[in-house]
Amino acid sequence: MKRLVAALALLPMVATAQTNFEWAYQVFEEQLHEIDENAPRTVPGSDRSYTQVEIDDLFNPPDWFPDDHAPLPEVVASGDGEVIRACASCHLTSGMGHPESSQLAGLPVSYFMRQMADFRSGARVDRYWMNGIGEAISDEDALAAAEYYAAIEPIDWVGDVIESDTVPRSYVGDGRMRFRHPDGGTEPLGNRILEFPQDRELATARHPYSGFMAYVPVGSIARGEELARTGADGRTIQCAICHGQDLTGLADIPAIAGASPIYTVRQLNDIKTGVRAGPMAVLMDATVANLTDEDIVALAAYLATLDP
Ligand code: HEC
Ligand code: HEC
Repeated sequence: MKRLVAALALLPMVATAQTNFEWAYQVFEEQLHEIDENAPRTVPGSDRSYTQVEIDDLFNPPDWFPDDHAPLPEVVASGDGEVIRACASCHLTSGMGHPESSQLAGLPVSYFMRQMADFRSGARVDRYWMNGIGEAISDEDALAAAEYYAAIEPIDWVGDVIESDTVPRSYVGDGRMRFRHPDGGTEPLGNRILEFPQDRELATARHPYSGFMAYVPVGSIARGEELARTGADGRTIQCAICHGQDLTGLADIPAIAGASPIYTVRQLNDIKTGVRAGPMAVLMDATVANLTDEDIVALAAYLATLDP
């Protein structure tokens, strides 16, 4: 508990206006699952072992499968030891990232570098980490990270996307991750999307290949598909025009297929409200201008069902 409070005190927070999508920005509430922080932990198929304290060392996160990837650039493996946390601590060695951060695997290098420049200038605001990292990182380190992640093929990360009126009761715990409440129970979903780890043990171990699942509102996937594919009579613009035929990216416009749905909600909301307004993000303005809150949730739900 002490460690947690200390970690929270370190968490930089950028003040931004409240929105109807606060649930997508996941703020730590409490940790309800008991964890023995000093017991060695292992994962199937890896001969390595780390305690939870080691797993949560943001300057030296676990590398469960070192033979699976190219050598980690120093900044990805351990940051700078001061301000810049290891990229792999939040985005994982696989670049698939948790829903509260983001996927980096397969992002075009020029898109990646533009985001780092936008975090540095403040044209794109992340409430938690990326602006501080963007200001502190050298171009050389940013490029090394961009090239490492660009070379990785994204994997299917959001497994089941389930339409439902009710969802398991949950809480946001360590790592700003959402977990099912240990006492069980259900609650209405409303116009929200909740993402849970497919395997809580593996996700809290920062396993590079253990993904998530999502609950989305009833009817949202079909509505999202209509919006994305047809523009729904001028409500929005067909995504494929810029994001490519399968929405897997076109030139340096990023993939949006298979993305974590709460990440997508944050981006559409941030672009619509001007929190993300970099030189290329403005190309999205006409796409988001007339979207309702339900439309944003529907688009995110639909994109999560697609292959990455
Ligand atoms: C402590 C957690 C944390 C660490 C460490 C971290 N990031 Fe991030 N990163 C985030 C979060 C959170 C977001 C998502 C912001 C949002 O929702 O808009 C993000 C988003 C990004 C994006 C934007 C992705 C996109 O699709 O637009 C890039 C690029 C990125 N990070 C690069 C890095 C690099 C490079 C490092 C290491 C130097 C790093 N990050 C370290 C938390 C982290
Ligand atoms: C006119 C071109 C255009 C159209 C149409 C368009 N986009 Fe985009 N979109 C972009 C560009 C360019 C970016 C990258 C912005 C940047 O570099 O900061 C982007 C970024 C995004 C992102 C952020 C991705 C990330 O990794 O952070 C999401 C989500 C997104 N678009 C969703 C959509 C959806 C959904 C649609 C269709 C309803 C759509 N876009 C239609 C041009 C477009």
